[in-house]
Amino acid sequence: MEERFAPSGTRERNLAMELVRVTEAAALSAGRWMGKGNKEMVDQAAVDAMRNALDGVDMNGVVVIGEGEKDEAPMLYIGEQVGNGNGPEVDVAVDPVDGTRLLSLGLPGSLAVVATSERGTMYSAPPGVYYMEKIAVGPAGRNVIDINAPIAVNLDRIARARDARIDDLTVVILDRPRHQEIIRQVREVGARIRLIGDGDVAAAIQAAMEDYRGVDMLLGIGGAPEAVLAAAALKCLGGEIQCKIWPRNEQEREKLKADGVDLDQVFRTDDLVSGDEVCFAATGISSGELLDGVQYHGWGARTSSIMMRSRSGTVRYIQARHRWRKPGFDQR
Ligand code: FBP
Repeated sequence: MEERFAPSGTRERNLAMELVRVTEAAALSAGRWMGKGNKEMVDQAAVDAMRNALDGVDMNGVVVIGEGEKDEAPMLYIGEQVGNGNGPEVDVAVDPVDGTRLLSLGLPGSLAVVATSERGTMYSAPPGVYYMEKIAVGPAGRNVIDINAPIAVNLDRIARARDARIDDLTVVILDRPRHQEIIRQVREVGARIRLIGDGDVAAAIQAAMEDYRGVDMLLGIGGAPEAVLAAAALKCLGGEIQCKIWPRNEQEREKLKADGVDLDQVFRTDDLVSGDEVCFAATGISSGELLDGVQYHGWGARTSSIMMRSRSGTVRYIQARHRWRKPGFDQR
């Protein structure tokens, strides 16, 4: 589909075009740490590069999903101003490395991720909320899923919406002990399962991509920040994510309840990201099914990225060749 034209006849600006340079910078920097067993350096390298690249983007951004509170992380903390201040006022969600452990161990599937949306339109979880229960699907399943319905019902509805059988469907689930019961229920109804070690943002994107049929649904509990990033991507893809806050234990449950947090509230895609102008970019760091990882050469490096925009629904894949000693990518 062609990008729309603004009434003036000029092309609407696509911030995602610029965000992809931010995720490329993070991937190029963090990729150097692949397999070196050092999660801290993986993160630090990505955060530093991402922050530096964000400074060059024409936007007036505030980090809503970031690397923790101001005192915990030196950069990209929640509330930090990013961008050069010259562009639109936006909320910014970052995950400099989704899959830090994967990358540090040299395992596939780590990504650098950034999303933006109009100011005030991204959900900012209350303090003490770390995890969410999630269900995510593509356009065909968006009007049929219900996080409160049994897994068998959701799979049956998706199968019907797809004109398929339940055993044609594949569900992607984070490989965690807490998911034993979900796995049991999915097996009981006969759907296939793909277990992943980490990285449920990429998994949600795969579940929602119409031109990728490897995965039909994401199920399970993952990070709350990753839920917002996934919602930004799914908004662009026309998919749907539904989430509920998931306390890790009784103590956390009681504390959240005492703080007035509604643990029964269902957050839909639009509750997590309500903007109309959502931009999303991700670059592969270690190769995965969604994106190839960074390849380093003597002359430079290659990166593989995806970028999308909700208003137009355009999805672009960008293969870039970066030469060293050029401005902005002086890596050596
Ligand atoms: P980070 O690499 O950003 O730490 O997140 C990796 C990840 O797998 C997310 O994709 C997922 O939402 C979350 O961790 C799950 O948390 P946990 O590893 O604690 O189960």
